[in-house]
Amino acid sequence: MSTDMTENLTNLTLNNGLEMPALGLGVFQTPPEETRAAVEAALGAGYRHIDTAAAYGNEREVGEGIHRSGIARREVFVETKIWISDYGYDETLHGFDTSAAKLGVDQIDLLILHQALPTDFDRTLAAYRALETLLADGKVRAIGVSNFMVDHLTALLETATVVPAVNQIEVHPYFQQRTVQAFGADHGILTQAWSPLGGITFYRDGSHGSTLEDPVIGEIARAHAKTPAQVMLRWHLQEGRSVIPKSTKPHRIAENIDVFDFDLTDDELAAIDALDTDRRGGPEPADITLAGYGRPIPEA
Ligand code: A2P
Repeated sequence: MSTDMTENLTNLTLNNGLEMPALGLGVFQTPPEETRAAVEAALGAGYRHIDTAAAYGNEREVGEGIHRSGIARREVFVETKIWISDYGYDETLHGFDTSAAKLGVDQIDLLILHQALPTDFDRTLAAYRALETLLADGKVRAIGVSNFMVDHLTALLETATVVPAVNQIEVHPYFQQRTVQAFGADHGILTQAWSPLGGITFYRDGSHGSTLEDPVIGEIARAHAKTPAQVMLRWHLQEGRSVIPKSTKPHRIAENIDVFDFDLTDDELAAIDALDTDRRGGPEPADITLAGYGRPIPEA
């Protein structure tokens, strides 16, 4: 929703009242040896939210980057994900210990399940019960899920005592998952967009055709003297989503947070909405199995 004045979209309030910076740094596929510098660059540029995952293999370096920045731990919102190989109640409690130790923190701000395991949903539910325990014990400040489709959310809500605060899913102009977003909105589950710039599609079919070169996005960017990446991030924020753009390049990291000084019009938002191709870039959530995707998470 655009207004005459630039909206302050820097923070979002989760369904349990916790405030979260809407924009965080993503580190999916950031090699561990580049992660420290990326996190430090982000914190230096004003980011106060970092999203990682046990499965990314760079939690330790995220923790080191935060520590080296000199910014107080409590000022940085730390989000990570339990991998499917650690699902089950006791396994997920252990997964928290492992992630917290690697990150060098006592408490994780937002801990989410990385994927549903549709063919092993009992194990997924047991993992979620462990998140509820961690929340009740004050080990985490909010809990949620990732890559949950409507059927997974529906099944989870049948037994959950805590509604997930967040569902982190693939959302970018070329793949918008409106049904999942609407289900989340109806239930107080915030949609957090992974690959918010559509990076997952950049090398599709061997081409480099991408959202960054999209003519509609390009025209809107020119109208605001902003870059296509900034326009996409602003589109997410104005539509109420959290975003975690990934970059290892300091100038892009800075560019990606410089999105709080302009407003897209309703027509511009609608023009980007109309770019949806309904073509998923990441793995099909229904196909995630332990046999296909499981791999052990190293101990801390
Ligand atoms: P790099 O890390 O070399 O900057 P997404 O988070 O949507 O998946 O996007 C991540 C991809 O987009 C990465 O390939 C990243 O590359 C690239 N990227 C991130 N920010 C920008 C930007 N502002 N302009 C162009 N490319 C970007």
